[in-house]
Amino acid sequence: MRHGDLAFGRAPPHSCPAMTVTIRPLHPSIGAEASGVDIGKPLTPGEAAAIEAGMDRHAVLVFHDQAITDEQQIRFSGYFGALERTAGGNVRKPDEQRLSKEFADVSNLDHTGKLLAQNDRNRMFNLGNTLWHSDSSFRAVPAKFSLLSGRVIPEQGPNTEFADMRAAYDALDDDTKRECENLVCRHSLMYSRGLLGFAEFSDEERAKFAPVRQRLVRRHPVTGRKSLFLASHIGAIEGWPMPEARAFIRDLIEHATQRQFVYAHKWRQNDLVMWDNRQTMHRVRRFKDTKYVRDVRRTTVAGDAPTISQAMEGAA
Ligand code: OGA
Ligand code: MN
Repeated sequence: MRHGDLAFGRAPPHSCPAMTVTIRPLHPSIGAEASGVDIGKPLTPGEAAAIEAGMDRHAVLVFHDQAITDEQQIRFSGYFGALERTAGGNVRKPDEQRLSKEFADVSNLDHTGKLLAQNDRNRMFNLGNTLWHSDSSFRAVPAKFSLLSGRVIPEQGPNTEFADMRAAYDALDDDTKRECENLVCRHSLMYSRGLLGFAEFSDEERAKFAPVRQRLVRRHPVTGRKSLFLASHIGAIEGWPMPEARAFIRDLIEHATQRQFVYAHKWRQNDLVMWDNRQTMHRVRRFKDTKYVRDVRRTTVAGDAPTISQAMEGAA
């Protein structure tokens, strides 16, 4: 079997003798540190399977001391599925791109490597990452994993926080679970940016950011666990008056991001942090981004189906 063949595969029944991946939990339900793997090198099938199993269980994995190139990040990401193209996820113009099309540039740099100015439109749009969200929930087929590599990390932070949407779902009372069960939400980048008062979009952007439908409760394809599929990208619930929908979503996000559900990651240079967007939300905290360089680069593994096609019947 070639290395890339494990993209959606499960662990082979034998264990590979070279496999050394060790996973140490960082929190009771979400987040673990993975060691014994060099992301810059091709993986054995056993290593790729151990990482995928660690993701299913812990939803966030942290790898320290991974000084990697863009090519190495793309190869590593490819073990877990096909990569998303970033088109449609930002307002950068083609001639403003700093990174190749496999990357979401979540740094505070322009294409020449200079800090983005305070009123730069790309910077203001990227401030949406400080709101709780799940990557690409605004796409019809939302993302599976995100992999964020910390190439230049300022001492001043910021932390990135991850909230466990399985634990948040489990902690709802039965009435609320029943109420959420079959709801369909509409997600758009225009809704999350609108929360920050970023509301001017060209006709082309309005078309590109048209809302998509997602289930509010989804099931993990491997573990079968249910989770709340929340994001600040939600602007409506089908069949509900808008103020009622938005008030309910705010309440759910407040519930789901209580401290007991959250792992806060304090970055070190050359960390690679990988999260499962199907069972978490995340946000980056505010920092002095017009003063200190933060070069973080994200690859994103595409999901395999719209949540809307999932059936919930028979669900416990
Ligand atoms: C992202 C994101 C958080 C950060 O890359 O999807 O939300 O820490 N980034 O920059
Ligand atoms: Mn994100």
